[in-house]
Amino acid sequence: MNNPFIISFGKKPSQYISRINLSEEIIEDFNSDNPSSQAYMLVGVRGVGKTVMLSSISKTLKEQPGWIVMELNPTRDLLESFAAKLYALPEMNSLFIEAKLDLSLLGIGISIDKGIKISDIEQAITSMLEITTKKNKKILITIDEVTVNQYMREFASAFQIIIRNDFPLFMIMSGLFDNINSLQNDKSLTFLYRTPKIALSALNISAIVNTYQRVFSAKAEDAKYMAQLTNGYPFAFQVLGHLVWKYREENPDYNVKEICDEVLNEYDQILQEYVYEKIWNEMSAKEREIVACACKEDSIKVKTIRDILGYDSNSFTVYRNRLIKKGILTSTGYGTLSVFLPRFDAFVVNMF
Ligand SMILES: Nc1ncnc2c1ncn2[C@@H]1O[C@H](COP(=O)(O)OP(=O)(O)OP(=O)(O)O)[C@@H](O)[C@H]1O
Ligand SMILES: [Mg+2]
Repeated sequence: MNNPFIISFGKKPSQYISRINLSEEIIEDFNSDNPSSQAYMLVGVRGVGKTVMLSSISKTLKEQPGWIVMELNPTRDLLESFAAKLYALPEMNSLFIEAKLDLSLLGIGISIDKGIKISDIEQAITSMLEITTKKNKKILITIDEVTVNQYMREFASAFQIIIRNDFPLFMIMSGLFDNINSLQNDKSLTFLYRTPKIALSALNISAIVNTYQRVFSAKAEDAKYMAQLTNGYPFAFQVLGHLVWKYREENPDYNVKEICDEVLNEYDQILQEYVYEKIWNEMSAKEREIVACACKEDSIKVKTIRDILGYDSNSFTVYRNRLIKKGILTSTGYGTLSVFLPRFDAFVVNMF
């Protein structure tokens, strides 16, 4: 049998632990008669499952009647790609032509005899949306790995105007905290400021235990030991599953707990090479110092970190909040913190 766990990013894994509450929250809202928001943002640290969740919501809505789902690439001209994709929709294209929408000046489609020549991209989109809306179609746009660039600004401000006109247009963006944050704080994009953010964090630990127990026919306590090594971090859940599966094929007599200890070095190495180095490089020097200090204990008192690094309460709170929002630190109770990324301590010791 093939290894059921995958190490690659972005693909829906076959051992998938659903985040039903979070996805349902968005799907139900989008499907309601009066959605509380037509846009959402998924935010979280690398490897936490933003792309996987985005694809899973897209897939669910694609399968529901009346929904059209489109994925846009944030490094390309978003308005142009949106217009082009909309125009090219097989179920819509003939209706646009029937309505004599001529977008050839924009480089989209063919020129139409006695057609309505449109040269403004937002106008083109609005005209097409009038038609899709009449056909009771709802459109979801997904944009993964958003960054702040001119395309994103233009697109967001057009989106803002479109939804003000009551079109059933929806959007889910996903990205790292820093990118989502600068997008939201961009003064020209006030509506994004109010767009709800959904923070992705650990997967449900019992669900991880159950999956490991089932896949490896392991004892509950062994599966629990294994799950604890992942701390609920989705990428780690896949990596550890993958390694244990591989080791077990060659050594069928070992139990899961013994195998975990055998593969620990390789586990650390993959986490480091695939994500931790990147995450580390994206942190500021001060953030690194704080996270390294937090690695000293499983759950460390804020006061201990402050005393060691010499921060006063106010300035420390700024860093603390930021690291929590980035999904790197977790607040574990009154005045204590822990590092969310499993075995990050083993990585950090090599970085200083
Ligand atoms: N719900 C889930 N259940 C099980 N595994 C998951 C789940 N979500 C994500 N994973 C696994 O975690 C890894 C990272 O997922 P994904 O690529 O979605 O992360 P990401 O947040 O988009 O990361 P990045 O910020 O680097 O793009 C993948 O190996 C994926 O298989
Ligand atoms: Mg991703």
